[in-house]
Amino acid sequence: MSTISSSITSSTPRSLSSLPRFDRPTYLMCSPQWYDVDYVINPWMAGNLHRPSRDLAFAQWKELHTQLHRIADVRLIHGQPGSPDMVFVGHAALVQHGIAALSSFAHPQRQTEEPHLRRWLESAGFLLWETPRETAFEGEGDVLFDATGDRLWAAHGVRTCLQSHRHVADAWHTGVTSLHLVDPRFYHLDTCFAPLSGGHALYFPGAFDKPSLAKIEAAYAPEMRIVVTESEAAHFACNVINIGRDIIMGTTASNLATRLEMQGYNVTEVNLSEFIRGGGAAKALALRLSDSRVTHGL
Ligand code: ARG
Repeated sequence: MSTISSSITSSTPRSLSSLPRFDRPTYLMCSPQWYDVDYVINPWMAGNLHRPSRDLAFAQWKELHTQLHRIADVRLIHGQPGSPDMVFVGHAALVQHGIAALSSFAHPQRQTEEPHLRRWLESAGFLLWETPRETAFEGEGDVLFDATGDRLWAAHGVRTCLQSHRHVADAWHTGVTSLHLVDPRFYHLDTCFAPLSGGHALYFPGAFDKPSLAKIEAAYAPEMRIVVTESEAAHFACNVINIGRDIIMGTTASNLATRLEMQGYNVTEVNLSEFIRGGGAAKALALRLSDSRVTHGL
């Protein structure tokens, strides 16, 4: 029986064959009853303290859940009092092949979420890959597999530390391409970059330094780049859930949905205004649990 032991602190060593496997796209969402803007840890939250409407946020989250549930299995974790950002469950971990690299949030305000997510992922059978407290890592907020699962993109500069990239990638013995974020409004990679199933990259160039842009442009030929404007990026246009040819995203007040449809995607827009006040949108509200290839039907 093969077991993994290094840097793994699941209570019991597990055999690789017993790790959870999903044969359908599967996501985790976190119920929004404790969601609010209680503090300011990103520029979007400034001026929005306690402004999200509870009823509207709940209705928007429910609509996102309905749309996601049409095309994927959706598991639920309960939000917790004292962790108003836990609804942004996409930042809790990075999951692939039944292994969950657990986040070490940069801000103490979000560190309260960690034990709840750890417990949920452990009881769902995932092998837990610990990340050191000293080198922040914020899950799928900053580290994203491409659609094939063969390439790992990781950002640093605002939340996640550069030093954590190698450590996270080691969970899957994979290479990693590091990107440097330079605009505090686009503080997570999932606010400005989305590798899509059709081999396209949806991204906002202004969020990256020059060497990082060169890395993105080396990986994606010009016809595979879907560049968003600053105003679209400010509507969280890159914060999309992509499952096969389907894309679920917040409303962008632009023709981006049409541009994506012209590239062969089916786009569903959901108004997520109350979550944008907290600095997140569709992608941040759901954590991918199924492998990349299963998620995209590859
Ligand atoms: N308030 C949360 C935070 O600042 C929002 C996270 C949303 N992030 C995102 N990448 N869309 O951590």
